[in-house]
Amino acid sequence: MPRALITGVTGQDGSYLAELLLGRGYEVHGIVRRSSSFHTERIDHLYTDPHLLGDDGHGEPGGLRLHYGDMLDGTALRRILDAAQPDEVYNLAAQSHVRVSFDQSEHTADVAGLGALRLFEAVRDHARAAGRPVRVYQAGSSEMFGLAPAPQNEASPFLPRSPYAVAKVAAHHFGVTFREAYGLFIANGILFNHESPRRGETFVTLKITRAAARIRLGLQDRLYLGELDARRDWGFAGDYVVAMWLMLQQPVPGDFVVATGESHSVREFLEAAFGRLELDWQAHVVLDPRYRRPVEIPHLCGDSTRARATLGWTPRVRFAELVAMMVDHDLDLAQRERAGGAPPNVGPGSRAPGPGRA
Ligand code: NAP
Ligand code: GDD
Repeated sequence: MPRALITGVTGQDGSYLAELLLGRGYEVHGIVRRSSSFHTERIDHLYTDPHLLGDDGHGEPGGLRLHYGDMLDGTALRRILDAAQPDEVYNLAAQSHVRVSFDQSEHTADVAGLGALRLFEAVRDHARAAGRPVRVYQAGSSEMFGLAPAPQNEASPFLPRSPYAVAKVAAHHFGVTFREAYGLFIANGILFNHESPRRGETFVTLKITRAAARIRLGLQDRLYLGELDARRDWGFAGDYVVAMWLMLQQPVPGDFVVATGESHSVREFLEAAFGRLELDWQAHVVLDPRYRRPVEIPHLCGDSTRARATLGWTPRVRFAELVAMMVDHDLDLAQRERAGGAPPNVGPGSRAPGPGRA
């Protein structure tokens, strides 16, 4: 049974990737940050009591196993690698909000930049000590292209415009360097924006779909936003984790742009989302400078020819379907809220009470 380790397993992509790998027969290990309250909603439905999984050495292999750890703690990363013995490592952990990276620049660089380096060093030592290869996926971003003209592909220059993007460029180059210097299998995905009903609530797509649904049901009236003319290439997260997995199944590691090839402005997203609910967005949206960035990236649109040709990957969900999926999910959520129930979690099932070791 193949084993995978996912950093950032509690995030949007981590949850879809864990589902994909469990469905393909993997034993999946995930790293969870300690926090004073539960934040495992996206993976609760995948969780099984560790006593039933044989963490004590008596049960069956497989399932989702959680470990406390942090990208800031190299010692913990090393111990988790030794415990999990993974064949594949997916580095998805990051402070992933671009606007927040201007407020918390050192922290963002530490987690997303140096954190990747800590992990690569740990994998390097672990693979040597264990005497077997370990394949690594590094979650790079279209943000790394910054002002490079669209459409961007693997040959486009990196012109990052935020602390987040600079950290991701550093992680990308750490990956290439470790690949060349030590022969490690490190694949760099350069993924354009991907969304889903599990998207964090402060990213613009889910912020819009959740607000539109609540406005439709009279639960709120206004939506405060920043830049509306920026264009992004929005795909579905469930499709993009397939590309991550495919990158680690190749005979040699490489760098791949993953994108739909179609871009839309925030304004167009508003029109589509509010339009699905027969609402006029202009009657509800208020521009608020606090949601603007010190510098903006006007246009990201990816050319994923290499991924399509080499990995055989294609996006299944297109823009209109993605918007509909998110709006319909959030309308259901708002209906439950209006009915008086607590807003449901994004995933069904009971809560995962952490790694079960503390
Ligand atoms: P996300 O929902 O923000 O999830 C980020 C994950 O990283 C969460 O599990 C978070 O844990 C974890 N994390 C944050 N700081 C950490 C730390 N110090 N130590 C350990 N874990 C930490 O992001 P996503 O949308 O799933 O994206 C996954 C990865 O792909 C990220 O690296 C992101 O930068 C990159 N990416 C995303 C997109 C996109 O459009 N979604 C595009 C390109 C690249 P908590 O739950 O505890 O916060
Ligand atoms: N978050 C947010 N909130 N964005 C807003 C708002 C607002 O109120 N109003 C306008 N925007 C604009 C942003 O300025 C940006 O141009 C666009 O909406 C998308 O913003 P986000 O949804 O925050 O995503 P992002 O493109 O900055 O970053 C996401 O995609 C990257 C890949 O290109 C994140 O997932 C990154 O982690 C990822 O690397």
